[in-house]
Amino acid sequence: MSKTIAVIRGDGIGPEIMNATLRVLDELKVGLQYEFVEAGMAAQEHVGELLPSATLESIARHRVALKGPLTTPIGGGFSSLNVELRKRFDLYANVRPAITVPGTKARYEGIDLITVRENTEGAYGSDGQVLSEDGDMALSQIKVTRRGSERIVRYAFDLARRQGRKKVTVVHKANIMKTTSGLFLKVAREVAAQYPEIQCQEMIVDNTCMQLVMNPHQFDVIVTTNLFGDIISDLCAGLVGGLGLAPGANIGTEAAIFEAVHGSAPDIAGKGIANPCALLLAACQMLGHLGLEPQAERVRNAIRDVVGRKDRVTPDLGGTGNTDSFADALIDSLRAD
Ligand code: NAI
Ligand code: MG
Repeated sequence: MSKTIAVIRGDGIGPEIMNATLRVLDELKVGLQYEFVEAGMAAQEHVGELLPSATLESIARHRVALKGPLTTPIGGGFSSLNVELRKRFDLYANVRPAITVPGTKARYEGIDLITVRENTEGAYGSDGQVLSEDGDMALSQIKVTRRGSERIVRYAFDLARRQGRKKVTVVHKANIMKTTSGLFLKVAREVAAQYPEIQCQEMIVDNTCMQLVMNPHQFDVIVTTNLFGDIISDLCAGLVGGLGLAPGANIGTEAAIFEAVHGSAPDIAGKGIANPCALLLAACQMLGHLGLEPQAERVRNAIRDVVGRKDRVTPDLGGTGNTDSFADALIDSLRAD
C-alpha cells in the first residue's frame, strides 16, 4: 500500500514530536508518504499567512492529515486555527480515546473509553452572540440540528460496532435544556434503536462527571454535544494520566485531521524533552482510519512496553530520557516484537 498524508509539523514542540512520531511510523514500513505543509506561526513566518491555501489544498487532496500543535497568536482577530480547520472541512466528529497505559501516573487502571464529541454546532457557534452596549448583559445561542445530532450519534454507534464495543452513553441535559439537549436526546434514541446489539444508556451531564470520577470503568463510548464533550473529554484525559497521552481525531466526510490534545508547550519547546506519545497515539487513530488497525495496535503495544523504562522516557512521565531516547526505545520495541 502507498498512501500520502498531509503533515503539519506545527509550532513549539510540534517539530520535535512530529519527527519522533514519523520515525516510529516509518518503522512500520506500511508505505506511508508525507507531504509537508505549514500552518500557524511557521506559515506566518514563511508565507505571511497563518493558514496558507497550499495547506488547505493538501489536506483536501490527501483527505488525511497529521498535525502538530499550532500556536494561536493572541490578538490579531484570529480566533483559533483549529476551529478554522474544523469549519473548513466540516470535521463534525471529535474522537478522543482515553486508555490507561500501565506504569504512568494514571488514577485508575484498565480504563478504555472513547468520547465522541459533536464538533460543529452546540454552544460554540459565534452566531447570535450579543454583548449589550453597557456591557451588563451577554447573550448567546445554542444551535442543535437533527442532521448534526444524527450524524454524530450514528458515528458513535458505528464506531462501537466496528470496535466490538458494547455500550454507548448519550450524555445530555434535556431535563433543563429541553429544546436543544432535548432534540439531541430524541434523535439519539431514534438512532440507537437501529443498533439493537449495542446497549444505549442515557445520562445527565453533571451526573456523568461524578460517575466518571467514581466509577469510570462503567463507560465504553460516550457521545455528546460540543460543550459537554469538550469538558468531559478533558476530564477523561485526566483519568488516564493527563495531556502527554491524550490523542484526538477530527473527522468529517471529506477529510480527517489527527492531532494531540495538548498545545505547542512553549515552556519546553526546543529542549528536546517533549513527550511524543499523544501525537503518536493520534497517529495510531490515523492508522485505524486508513484500515491499518493491526499496525496501530503494534505501536500501542510498544508504548505500553516502553513507558515504564524511566531511563528512556521523558520527564513528564517521571523519566530521565528525552524525546529522541523515547522514540529510539519505541523503535527497539517494534523491532523486537
Ligand atoms: P499546552 O498544552 O501547550 O501546555 C500545557 C502544559 O503541558 C505545559 O506545561 C507544557 O509544557 C505541558 N505539555 C504539553 N504537551 C506536552 C508534551 N507533549 N510533553 C510534555 N509536556 C507537555 O497548553 P498551553 O500552554 O495552554 O498552550 C500553548 C499554545 O498551544 C497556545 O498558543 C495554544 O493556543 C496552543 N494550543 C494548541 C492546540 C492545538 O493545536 N490543538 C491545543 C491547545 C493549545
Ligand atoms: Mg478543550
